[in-house]
Amino acid sequence: MKLRLWPRSLAARTATVLLIGLVIVQGAGLTIHALDRLDLQRFAQMREITMRMMGVYRAVAPVPAEETERKLSEIWLPPGLTATLSPNPPTAPLPIDSSPAERLVRVNLNMVPMPAILRPQEIRVLGGPQERRMVVGLHMPNGVWLNIAAPIAPLRPWHSPGFLTAFLGMTVAAALLTLWAVRRLTLPVRTLAAAAEALGRDVNAPPLPEAGPLEVATAAAAFNTMAARIRRFVQDRTEMLTAIGHDLRTPITRLKLRAEFMEDEELRRKMLADLDELESMVSATLAFGRDASTTEPVSAIDLAELLRTVLDEAGDARPEAADRLSFSGPPHLTVRVRPLSLKRALSNLVTNALTYGASATVRLIPASQGMLRIEIEDDGPGIPASDLDRVFEPFYRVEASRNNETGGVGLGLPIARNILRAHGGDVTLANRPTGGARAVVTLPA
Ligand SMILES: Nc1ncnc2c1ncn2[C@@H]1O[C@H](COP(=O)(O)OP(=O)(O)OP(=O)(O)O)[C@@H](O)[C@H]1O
Ligand SMILES: [Mg+2]
Repeated sequence: MKLRLWPRSLAARTATVLLIGLVIVQGAGLTIHALDRLDLQRFAQMREITMRMMGVYRAVAPVPAEETERKLSEIWLPPGLTATLSPNPPTAPLPIDSSPAERLVRVNLNMVPMPAILRPQEIRVLGGPQERRMVVGLHMPNGVWLNIAAPIAPLRPWHSPGFLTAFLGMTVAAALLTLWAVRRLTLPVRTLAAAAEALGRDVNAPPLPEAGPLEVATAAAAFNTMAARIRRFVQDRTEMLTAIGHDLRTPITRLKLRAEFMEDEELRRKMLADLDELESMVSATLAFGRDASTTEPVSAIDLAELLRTVLDEAGDARPEAADRLSFSGPPHLTVRVRPLSLKRALSNLVTNALTYGASATVRLIPASQGMLRIEIEDDGPGIPASDLDRVFEPFYRVEASRNNETGGVGLGLPIARNILRAHGGDVTLANRPTGGARAVVTLPA
């Protein structure tokens, strides 16, 4: 299995790159700082130790060899130093130091002002920072070796724990700032994606604000232009559809008049039935066009009340099914919608349930995650699984209901879906496990 370390979202990718960069830069900065500080500390440390040693040397070097013991016992030794006198230079256990520390000792020793006659004849340096201890042997002009040992304190790369905390705090602050900036910068991309999604559902979705940084404003303007063109295109199509529907009415009426004069009774009846069907298709088409170009204003209504009205009206239209209608849900629920359009959408769904299922159980479920649900169930034959999507296409009717007395024209569901999507919601159909169909309407609360 391939491990997915590389995130998918633009924001996450940008943030990852920036954060990795931040960590590298901060790490490098910290290392450079620490190394520099260590160098400086070592230099200061060596300088201090040698200065102290030279103090002792200056006191003991001028006296004759036999008086060195007494002299050494008299003088004050700086804390930490131990000085011994010996006819020999210092030896093991410490190794001979040839590190920069040793050079520093020699350089510092030579910087101490003293008469040439008093200068050490030979210098030995053993140990060093690594051993945490150093022994410097100074061969005095009187022939005795003055061997001085000093501990070397470990170096500290940071000033204090406070320094590291502050540094960490700085890094975290920079990281947070980065995350915030990335989120802000990628916001327009998300807005654009949401707008494209909204446009796909409803061509009349509100335009994007053409504000913000230049690139974002330009993209928004381009998007709005595209949306306007799509709207125009859809509008032109709808207008054409209604125009055709409208123009067909006159010849249909003429044909009907002429059919009345036909001799053959049977043929006339069939002809008139066909013409009636044609006429209802034309008027449904006209209604569809009207709905698509609706400009009904949005207002706040009681959705529970609206659903009860729809059920009442369906019951009035079909008194024989009135006792197979039921509503459940909160008694009142206010929503902001286009009331007439929404009523038509819900009424189409309830009518379908009654027509194909002979009952309608409506459930209103208040919003969760911003969307409220309306479920309309019947206990009819349901819809073949392969047709669940197709029934939303204009004029599509399931085989069983074609040429049926119950038959409409096949525009009820497309109209309902158009209206609901224009509200930012949707409708889907499914078959209930216990038989019958269930229409699920979602609407933004
Ligand atoms: N509740 C349902 N149970 C079974 N079949 C259904 C149900 N609702 C819709 N259908 C099927 O989906 C088809 C399309 O429904 P739609 O409402 O779009 O058109 P219609 O009812 O045939 O005509 P109208 O335009 O008068 O509504 C129907 O012909 C029917 O076959
Ligand atoms: Mg219908």
